[in-house]
Amino acid sequence: MGKNVFVTGGLGFIGSHTVLDLVVQDYDVTIIDNLDNAFPEAWRRMKELAGDKAHMMKFIKGDLRNFDDLDNIFSATKFDAVIHFAGRKAVGESVQFPMLYYTHNVVGAVNLIEVMRKHNVKNMVFSSSCTVYGNPERVPINEEHPLKALSPYGRTKLIIEDIFRDVAAAEPEWRIILLRYFNPVGAHPSGKIGEHPVGIPNNLMPYVQQVALGQRDALSVFGSDYPTRDGTCVRDYIHVMDLAEGHVAALDKLFASPDIGCTPINLGTGTGSTVLEMVKAFEEASGKKVAYKLVDRRAGDSVAVWAATETAERELGWKTKLDINDMCRDQWKWASLYPKGYET
Ligand code: UFG
Repeated sequence: MGKNVFVTGGLGFIGSHTVLDLVVQDYDVTIIDNLDNAFPEAWRRMKELAGDKAHMMKFIKGDLRNFDDLDNIFSATKFDAVIHFAGRKAVGESVQFPMLYYTHNVVGAVNLIEVMRKHNVKNMVFSSSCTVYGNPERVPINEEHPLKALSPYGRTKLIIEDIFRDVAAAEPEWRIILLRYFNPVGAHPSGKIGEHPVGIPNNLMPYVQQVALGQRDALSVFGSDYPTRDGTCVRDYIHVMDLAEGHVAALDKLFASPDIGCTPINLGTGTGSTVLEMVKAFEEASGKKVAYKLVDRRAGDSVAVWAATETAERELGWKTKLDINDMCRDQWKWASLYPKGYET
């Protein structure tokens, strides 16, 4: 194939897994990452995992807020497409420091689109989120569900989606897929790369992992009186390896569909699991006890969220293969091999 793909945020959790999948599929990849929420050690392990395909990946430290960083890279290499992962992603942090989100996420995306226009690269896969559905009115959530942002973070995803819709409407030669993913968890089956949250984890599974490792005392389960089968919230957890494959499928789709315009596609399993079901699955996978306490609801949480997956199946010929037991098994492998993640 020999196609050249530019990947922003390619050393992060989802980016790193996707880049490895891309080189397996014979794409040449150039990564830009500012290492704000990623580690040089991730890059070292990615090269190890890529083996004799490591030469197909290149990493450049740079920041999307600097147009010149991008312009230099695009002047040196002709890209066929871009996958845009880079951005900040913590809801709580976005409420506290909204400008961090508008500069990193929105300004970053605007610069990226401008450099793509300048160099005539108009194929884009964007890392959006089910957060753009706000508090869902119905489940499963399909792509026609009304859009609403509930936090500055969510607003940046929605603003960037809107920018892409406007650009595609004005310049029909663009091909854009907005991938709205549900809750990514798990790790590479080798256990060498995975999610390394900085500080106290905001998300459920990194927290569960740290309790199983004895790094934290107990999980706080936020809310146990929701109208669900065990009183805890339901989410659509998706294995990061399935998610990575979804990106490769989206890229293949772009190259095959000149008239795709700007299309949103959910990436989820179509099945929901409760917080307590995830805790139990992790206990089984790890053989460790995960202590937890039931506490008050967390402000802003939706009761139940899961994806309608028909669009992904129809448009991308993609669906998930892995379940929550696979997610917990692979995440535990990563946790037990590298309890400190990328810190060496
Ligand atoms: N939870 C706990 N204890 C914790 C952490 C989480 O009980 O310590 C619960 C939450 O209440 C929720 C579930 O575990 O019911 C999942 O929570 P996460 O924080 O892992 O994920 P969310 O579904 O809240 O967040 C996801 C994405 C965000 C996105 C958000 C809103 O991670 O990027 O959905 O759509 F913004």
